[in-house]
Amino acid sequence: MRPITAPFPAARFRRARKSPALRALAQENTLSVNDLIWPVFVRDGTALSEPIASMPGVNRLSVDLVVKAAEEAAGLGIPVICLFPYTDAAHKTEDCAEAWNPDNLTNRAIRAIKAAVPEIAVMTDVALDPYSALGHDGLVRDGVILNDETLEALVKQALVQAESGADIIGPSDMMDGRIGALRSALEMAGHKDVVLMSYAAKYASAFYGPFRDAVGASGALKGDKKTYQMNPANSDEAMRLIERDLQEGADMVMVKPGMPYLDICRRAKDMFGAPTYAYQVSGEYAMIKGAALNGWIDGEKAMLESMMAFRRAGCDGVLTYFAPEVARALRRGLA
Ligand code: PBG
Repeated sequence: MRPITAPFPAARFRRARKSPALRALAQENTLSVNDLIWPVFVRDGTALSEPIASMPGVNRLSVDLVVKAAEEAAGLGIPVICLFPYTDAAHKTEDCAEAWNPDNLTNRAIRAIKAAVPEIAVMTDVALDPYSALGHDGLVRDGVILNDETLEALVKQALVQAESGADIIGPSDMMDGRIGALRSALEMAGHKDVVLMSYAAKYASAFYGPFRDAVGASGALKGDKKTYQMNPANSDEAMRLIERDLQEGADMVMVKPGMPYLDICRRAKDMFGAPTYAYQVSGEYAMIKGAALNGWIDGEKAMLESMMAFRRAGCDGVLTYFAPEVARALRRGLA
């Protein structure tokens, strides 16, 4: 593209900004409720909604209230809800066996949502950290995160989620070879229509802090995740990971975190043209909410501006804790 512009005063960019009508006509990108995926935290019990201190406005919900949340989301037109379990410490082990328990929180929540709100798509997380006594996404031996042994565990975890009715499986573990292993296991088990949204370019980020509080992994985690999550200094590597995952059978790819990595989203979309999503992670949510609650920024405007930034960067959609708030703002005609 080579935009042609006359010299001033023949060209005056302000002409097209003169009125709301002209600004609407000249707007390049749009935001719709169809672009939203809503991550929610599931906990044990009934009728329980437990606030997460580092994520104001976000609660851990018991399965019955997750169903209510799914009903609310479907009513607002949000197409996908994404489940993350807060697993009781008593169920966390070194072999992470709770991950493939058909009656674990995630699988119970999938079945309950599917029974009550069949029109909403359910996305799940594949990684071992919510079930690991050591807080890591993979199996650990002598302080080393094991790649190939972890793949077998992830396959067991994903098959049970597919069996429970998951529409989209999101592997967030960053082990090598997981997309290929999951794709062939799903095909062999007859789950031919389960979508794999790969957390293809997931960085070892400081912005995940509030999430680790939310799923109760902060206490367990020793050290960091730098041997499997990406170095924030790298960009070419992200393209190689996305290409690798698409070749192994990912239907959709994700960049995570979101706002600090919009350059990666744009590069990925331009290079591969695949369905591309960004995860506006817990720390990004906390920054906007925290500043808004202090009266330092207009929270609603900042939220909508951040959503539009993802669209401008080429994202087809965004995983965001703001999803219902964005949907309600869109209903009021705010974006
Ligand atoms: C772990 C996982 C993380 C997030 C989603 N899945 C955290 C991590 O890698 O430690 C972060 C999401 C967020 O911060 O909102 N499998």
